[in-house]
Amino acid sequence: MKKKLLITGASGMLGKEFLKLLSFDYLVYTVGRSSIKTSKNHYLIDITEEDSLKQVLDLINPEIIIHCAANVNINDCEANYENAYSLHVNSTKVLSSHPTTDKFIYISTDSVFDGTKSNYIETDTVNPLNNYSKTKAKGEEIVLTFAKNPYIIRTNIIGFSPGLGNSFFEWGFNELRNSANIKGFNDVFFNPLYTKDLADKVNELLSLNIPKGIYNFSSSSSISKYHFLIEIAKEFNFDIKLIQSISIDALNFGIKRPKNTTLNNAKASNNGIVFPSIQQTIENLFKDFKKRTNA
Ligand SMILES: NC(=O)c1ccc[n+]([C@@H]2O[C@H](COP(=O)([O-])OP(=O)(O)OC[C@H]3O[C@@H](n4cnc5c(N)ncnc54)[C@H](OP(=O)(O)O)[C@@H]3O)[C@@H](O)[C@H]2O)c1
Repeated sequence: MKKKLLITGASGMLGKEFLKLLSFDYLVYTVGRSSIKTSKNHYLIDITEEDSLKQVLDLINPEIIIHCAANVNINDCEANYENAYSLHVNSTKVLSSHPTTDKFIYISTDSVFDGTKSNYIETDTVNPLNNYSKTKAKGEEIVLTFAKNPYIIRTNIIGFSPGLGNSFFEWGFNELRNSANIKGFNDVFFNPLYTKDLADKVNELLSLNIPKGIYNFSSSSSISKYHFLIEIAKEFNFDIKLIQSISIDALNFGIKRPKNTTLNNAKASNNGIVFPSIQQTIENLFKDFKKRTNA
């Protein structure tokens, strides 16, 4: 019999990849505020409404939960700590303490680190700089406390958002396509995975008998945001002169952001999960982009 698997955030950039990938092998359920045509078992709820969430969990009794729902808008989180806390911490507590759930996958972020180091390993001390990452880090603690078998996946992602996308990759691509001049940070480094690859790797984790705990899921090599934009420009024949190389310090965001949050993925690799290089990650993303747009 297929296991019951609940995905939160399945209408989002990452969650939709889980929904696509896992619907064959699992009996997949989804929850969220917007309807999802591709989900056969969708409950239309705001997961910050704890009573509704508990009721739905009691109806589904999921054996596995993949918790992707979040507010990734750093400005929103900074402007409203309570909302961010309610979503990233309180809802996470309700989800991770549900008694039927054996495995709980919490999608976390590389930005739990302050970015003063690099190549972070799982045991490095977290030091989140803003409300988004502070509440995501608190969510990690909650999962480790309440879930039977917690798996914290620290990651960064690039991909396609449903509808009109505003992810980092899509922003860069759209600006360059419109011949807009853009700035790329030469001192902000990351090693993201393509959302589809991350979904594949989490699926591998589900099928392998890997010890519970915290894992970094990342590309095996890193890149600056500036060079990432250059790679996009090269791939699509945009003018690389549109991209100006600057330091993040030259812009005043008003919100603290970490500079180098590159993640060391040796722990997951040693458990049999192999990650692509950043070049392979970019290629995988481009292949799908071309398929989508016939570019
Ligand atoms: N995007 C990044 O660059 C990045 C980097 C590192 C880690 N991550 C992590 O990766 C995960 C997925 O991020 P993403 O980029 O895919 O996010 P996204 O595209 O913005 O999607 C967010 C999802 O959360 C759901 N959601 C938000 N508030 C909700 C609420 N109150 N009730 C129910 N559902 C709610 C949204 O669904 P509805 O609007 O339908 O409710 C949507 O499906 C997150 O946990 C994030 O922290 C993201």
